Amino acid sequence: MHRLLQRQLNQARDPNGGVSYERLLKLVNEAYCENEANRTRADRANEVMAAELSEMLAIKERATSLESAKRIAEAANMAKSQFIANMSHELRTPLNAIIGYTEMLIEDAVAEGGDRQISDHENILRSAQSLLHLINEVLDLSKIESGKLNIEIEEFHIGEVVFDAIADVRPAAAANGTELIVEIADSDMTMRSDPYRLSQCLRNLLSNAVKFTADGHVTLRVWREEQASGSFFNIEVSDSGIGMSPDQLARVLSPFEQGDGSITRKYGGTGLGLTITQQIAQLLGGDIIIESELNRGTRAKLVLRADLAQLSSAA
Ligand SMILES: Nc1ncnc2c1ncn2[C@@H]1O[C@H](COP(=O)(O)OP(=O)(O)O)[C@@H](O)[C@H]1O
Ligand SMILES: [Mg+2]
Repeated sequence: MHRLLQRQLNQARDPNGGVSYERLLKLVNEAYCENEANRTRADRANEVMAAELSEMLAIKERATSLESAKRIAEAANMAKSQFIANMSHELRTPLNAIIGYTEMLIEDAVAEGGDRQISDHENILRSAQSLLHLINEVLDLSKIESGKLNIEIEEFHIGEVVFDAIADVRPAAAANGTELIVEIADSDMTMRSDPYRLSQCLRNLLSNAVKFTADGHVTLRVWREEQASGSFFNIEVSDSGIGMSPDQLARVLSPFEQGDGSITRKYGGTGLGLTITQQIAQLLGGDIIIESELNRGTRAKLVLRADLAQLSSAA
């Protein structure tokens, strides 16, 4: 006899040994109900497990398709960067020839005293140089995006980089009636970083300050600061120019973003300078902080590690 039934029969017996069929029926019924309840619970657990399993499968499928989409996007990005790098090289070679020959033509025209020719040639030279600048910016951005912008660390006097960059913008400042002020405690202070990239950042900030300031002043301040995480140089360019609204300021660190449509028409440019400057500042162990007020002026500060070699060797 089935063991469960045997137990139920025993439980249904009265003290005299007789079986109460009413009790037996109740016991059997109870066992049946419990069985049913167990089965329902098991069915429910199975359903939950099946749902979880199919969700896991769906997640796995999504992860696989995301992974392959990521690989495709990365490959496309690499191809884009490679294409831009090659194109930039192909464009720069003839452009450098145009610039070189135009400079020679200007020299000849100066020697011959042909004023009209000098000014025409100077126009060609300016256009060629701004095209070269744009190509170099696009190339830098593509190098940064593909992680191929090399940083070359060496020790140098910060004053040299600062005064070279200032000399570069002096003619533009003079043309705009803007005074250039340099405040540097000690130009012999040394920095271990990439002087070429620092100079690029500085020229970007100074050229913006001068471009957007007429009959005002542009001040370059340099000071060293000890922080808990190490020594830093603060290099700040402030101007009394057109400034930016909070909305414009929020966008200018994104590639190809300029204050607004009128900026391009009035001042030219491509909106890459600040994006590149910020990316380089981060590669140099720092960042850029920009504050601005419309019609009052702008203050752009680079905070860069004084000794980048220390950071690289610690990393
Ligand atoms: N010193 C500044 N004063 C006012 N606006 C500025 C200044 N520097 C940058 N901007 C704004 O930020 C935009 C982006 O600057 P940037 O990335 O250097 O590009 P670009 O100089 O080619 O326009 C500029 O078009 C301008 O609207
Ligand atoms: Mg610029």
